[in-house]
Amino acid sequence: MAPVAIVTGACSGIGLAMSKELINRGYKVFMGDINPKGGEVVDALARPSAVPAPTFVHGNVASFEDQAHLFETAYSFAQHIDVFLANAGVDDREDLLAEPVDPTFAAKPTPYNATTADINLGAVLQGFKLMVHYSRRAEYDAKAACSTPPPLGRMVVTSSTFGLYPFPTNPVYAATKHATRGLVQSLGRRAEKEANFTLNAILPAFVPTGLAPEGLVAQIRDWGYITEMDTVLKALGLFLGETAELPNGVQRVEVPAALGDGPLTGECAEVSMAEVYLRGSVPFANDSQRWFSEDPDGLWWEGYRQKRAADGK
Ligand SMILES: NC(=O)c1ccc[n+]([C@@H]2O[C@H](COP(=O)([O-])OP(=O)(O)OC[C@H]3O[C@@H](n4cnc5c(N)ncnc54)[C@H](O)[C@@H]3O)[C@@H](O)[C@H]2O)c1
Repeated sequence: MAPVAIVTGACSGIGLAMSKELINRGYKVFMGDINPKGGEVVDALARPSAVPAPTFVHGNVASFEDQAHLFETAYSFAQHIDVFLANAGVDDREDLLAEPVDPTFAAKPTPYNATTADINLGAVLQGFKLMVHYSRRAEYDAKAACSTPPPLGRMVVTSSTFGLYPFPTNPVYAATKHATRGLVQSLGRRAEKEANFTLNAILPAFVPTGLAPEGLVAQIRDWGYITEMDTVLKALGLFLGETAELPNGVQRVEVPAALGDGPLTGECAEVSMAEVYLRGSVPFANDSQRWFSEDPDGLWWEGYRQKRAADGK
């Protein structure tokens, strides 16, 4: 039986390239996209003869029902999900500092447009919960059927190098990408221990896709700052691997939150031009900051156990 993968935002750019990579590695890929013409893209994909055809699942990743439908469709194929690439993302939908429509300031400003945050962050949080659910369900179903327990799964979030650096033209985008980096670093080890999947992030620099404004690609190419898709796929290969060994072209530039001997988890791979840099959190300012984050005595855990018990959660 082929391993099963879900990719969101799968019908263009990075999602399409990662889907093709998974197909070539033998995966049955469920390709989710909001583009109603995505089915034509998926139907046109070449694949090795023994690999099952990919399936297009139309939907908006920011809708709980749509993303749950994508997971249920994939799970019902083989009662497990091996890989989930939370990739769909969009740029800012408004300029937070745009000139006021009413120069007298009599009218209130329009409400903040939540689309970018809903897709880039909300859908990733929702996708994480769905992955936890189906990972545990796979273990439960395998036990009930007296079959082999499912192998360790993989979730990879497409963040951005603007999850590390400021991005004044797209501050909401930068905020959401910083947030997914924090999520991965905070939950990577727990996801592996408590839900049987690793959780990592790819942080690409500028890759020519449908995302950036037309005309920018040629100028950035002139500067020599294009990141090739192959470097993104190298980072993906790292997170699909079985060991924490780093191949050529991948370097560690900071100590990660969750070092261990097994597969990488809680890692953020900055992908720039031909290089992959594994990033940890920023260095601790002092021992107090390390103590709060690493929680060696389990004080946060105990505090929140009591608080949640009191709140009935
Ligand atoms: N291209 C880059 O330079 C770059 C750099 C860093 C990070 N990224 C990230 O890579 C990811 C993929 O972007 P891309 O560059 O391939 O862009 P893209 O526009 O080429 O592809 C994005 C795909 O996501 C789909 N999509 C958009 N909103 C959706 C939704 N609500 N539900 C489901 N599908 C949706 C689109 O239809 C499209 O097929 C994004 O998260 C983006 O932030 C891209």
